Amino acid sequence: MSNNLPSYLTISADVNSDLSNAIETLNPDKIAILVDENSKKHCLPHLHLSVDTQIEISSGEQHKTLDTCSHIWQQLTSIGCTRKSLLINLGGGVIGDMGGFAASTYKRGMPFINIPTTLLSQVDASVGGKLGVDFQGLKNHIGVFQDPVRVIINTEFLKSLPKRELKSGFAEIIKHALIRSEEQWQYLNRHSFEAMDWNEIIPNSIAIKNEVVQADPREGGVRKILNYGHTIGHALESHFLNSDTPLLHGEAIAWGMILENDIAVEAEILEKEARDEINAFIRSNYKLSQNLPSYESLKTHLLQDKKNDAQGIRFSLIKKIGACAHDVLTEEAILKKILK
Ligand SMILES: NC(=O)c1ccc[n+]([C@@H]2O[C@H](COP(=O)([O-])OP(=O)(O)OC[C@H]3O[C@@H](n4cnc5c(N)ncnc54)[C@H](O)[C@@H]3O)[C@@H](O)[C@H]2O)c1
Ligand SMILES: [Zn+2]
Repeated sequence: MSNNLPSYLTISADVNSDLSNAIETLNPDKIAILVDENSKKHCLPHLHLSVDTQIEISSGEQHKTLDTCSHIWQQLTSIGCTRKSLLINLGGGVIGDMGGFAASTYKRGMPFINIPTTLLSQVDASVGGKLGVDFQGLKNHIGVFQDPVRVIINTEFLKSLPKRELKSGFAEIIKHALIRSEEQWQYLNRHSFEAMDWNEIIPNSIAIKNEVVQADPREGGVRKILNYGHTIGHALESHFLNSDTPLLHGEAIAWGMILENDIAVEAEILEKEARDEINAFIRSNYKLSQNLPSYESLKTHLLQDKKNDAQGIRFSLIKKIGACAHDVLTEEAILKKILK
């Protein structure tokens, strides 16, 4: 299943050897590395590498901003980085998206290598070329499409990741299986979370995303199936953002998938039995403790979704395990019923 990986992506058993090979090929005049305090503590010690500068930023989505980019650009400028220099982004999706964006715009583009260190960034942000930052509370509002020169994935980094973060990334793995691969779905169902072999699952999950991205790089059509679970998921993420119990991205997506499956049943797209099987699996993996907000309180967030148009809210909905429809216009009455 996993032979369809992007050409720039390496599933690595030895990060140092793969990184030094990539650097040798590029032959950069300067090397900078971007970390946050967690990737500095847990991941940087694994790399045997001499760099010209280490740029450290504070962890967290709230720092995925143009202000932080300014800091990165200043640091690159202060050591005289050119278009022949290299930025290595070591960390989760925030580091990869923002470091990639900062590099792609620095002097109209300097090369960057991503070493994703969370499960979410390994299976999702590692492919598809989307880079950017949040702006005025809008997620990924400013950004570009640009592939890294290399992405190096090593599952050893996951060992220091808190379980809650691991589970968050697992939601995207579930999503990839449901939209495209019954085989991967069966695999996930045969193993307990603790017994998952990431070296087997991650390449398969990336291959699914890559296949979809290759078919539609600029998200004109089929790539929208990757947004399954995300229309409601993003609305929930925004809703709980400033509450006492904010959701991690994958937790919101887990909820989003469950509720969007309910929508799919109401819209007569998905059979009840398949919905019950999927939703039971997701519920068994996530403790979703928050009270579900009503349709009215989610409505503003739902209408923000990039996939909408003047006619209403459009969803990517599962038709059966391994197949997903996109651009399904959904009646408000169904949303009100599901989000009571
Ligand atoms: N570009 C894309 O296609 C794409 C796809 C999915 C998500 N994203 C973006 O990715 C971001 C979310 O990614 P994320 O979940 O990796 O978040 P993150 O980068 O905030 O990382 C989560 C937490 O884990 C810490 N961390 C990272 N690696 C660690 C390790 N090995 N051990 C211990 N702690 C570690 C981080 O410091 C952070 O506190 C969002 O900004 C989202 O928009 C982008
Ligand atoms: Zn997601």
